[in-house]
Amino acid sequence: MKILDGRVAVITGAGSGMGAAMARRFGAAGMKIVVSDIDLSAAQSTVATLAAKGVEAFAVKTDVAESDQVRALADAAYECYGAVHLLCNNAGVVPAGRHRLVWETPLEDWTWSNKVNCMGVVHGIHHFVPRMLAQGEEGHVVTTASVAGLVSSAGSVAYSAAKHAAVRVTEALYAGLLERQAPIGVTLLCPGLVNTRIYESERSRPAELLPGAGAAPESPELQAVADQLYRSAISPDDVAEQVLQAVLSNQFYVLTTSAFDDAIRDRTQAVLERRNPAFASLLSLVQRDQPSSQKERP
Ligand SMILES: NC(=O)c1ccc[n+]([C@@H]2O[C@H](COP(=O)([O-])OP(=O)(O)OC[C@H]3O[C@@H](n4cnc5c(N)ncnc54)[C@H](O)[C@@H]3O)[C@@H](O)[C@H]2O)c1
Repeated sequence: MKILDGRVAVITGAGSGMGAAMARRFGAAGMKIVVSDIDLSAAQSTVATLAAKGVEAFAVKTDVAESDQVRALADAAYECYGAVHLLCNNAGVVPAGRHRLVWETPLEDWTWSNKVNCMGVVHGIHHFVPRMLAQGEEGHVVTTASVAGLVSSAGSVAYSAAKHAAVRVTEALYAGLLERQAPIGVTLLCPGLVNTRIYESERSRPAELLPGAGAAPESPELQAVADQLYRSAISPDDVAEQVLQAVLSNQFYVLTTSAFDDAIRDRTQAVLERRNPAFASLLSLVQRDQPSSQKERP
């Protein structure tokens, strides 16, 4: 997309973190913003921040895991503004208990993570892209996946597997729009660590998907390291700036750090060489993502 001023953006998970930062950044570029979140009061507070800067915006309560709610979000956006040019499928959750191994991961974590992190993206594409295509105007779709969707390790598997799926879905969107020669670009945002509230995701878990008794709580060691790393991680505003530039230049892959490049390369090379992979532990992977390595980003 070359022109943002006066155009319309819909951002999911925009009550906090990267979604709120994208709302501020695209609002500052002159876009009207539909601020959507499962937490309505968080979405409303983003709208208040935007309104204070003279940005036109409104809040919609949407659980991206529910197809009907995402359809209603599209209806609300089209009813209010008559068009949508930028869709940011950004909402996501990290189930607690990242150290749990795949066989220890409660089924509720799989269901919750798949519904939000993968189906949330699918719902956005399903309910918005046909209408954006019918509009016939320039547009763009952003998926917030994760570097967790590009590497493998033993931990955080319910989250990472859903992010791997979101990567695949978004690559299919990109390929499909290219095949159609549609004027809609796609960006696959794969952040490393970003200083947001992602590790307080349990606040959004539906009661019916709470894990049963016996699920081990978060590892205190991992939590302590993660707390410290997240406090020193890059800001969501830095990421929002990278997303804005990617939308303007139609860049598909956006990785906010080079800290995971070796892990991505090792996994791909192992596949190509038909050799067994040497996956690093989740802890050692996240420990690589220090601000110094983020600054090395090409
Ligand atoms: N923070 C990181 O280090 C990091 C790294 C890689 C990827 N990500 C991804 O970035 C995206 C944004 O997360 P963040 O880091 O800004 O975290 P955040 O917790 O600060 O913000 C996430 C927002 O999503 C909302 N949300 C949660 N479940 C929802 C649902 N079912 N429907 C709609 N909204 C929902 C929350 O209310 C919250 O406002 C997520 O997809 C996350 O997986 C984060």
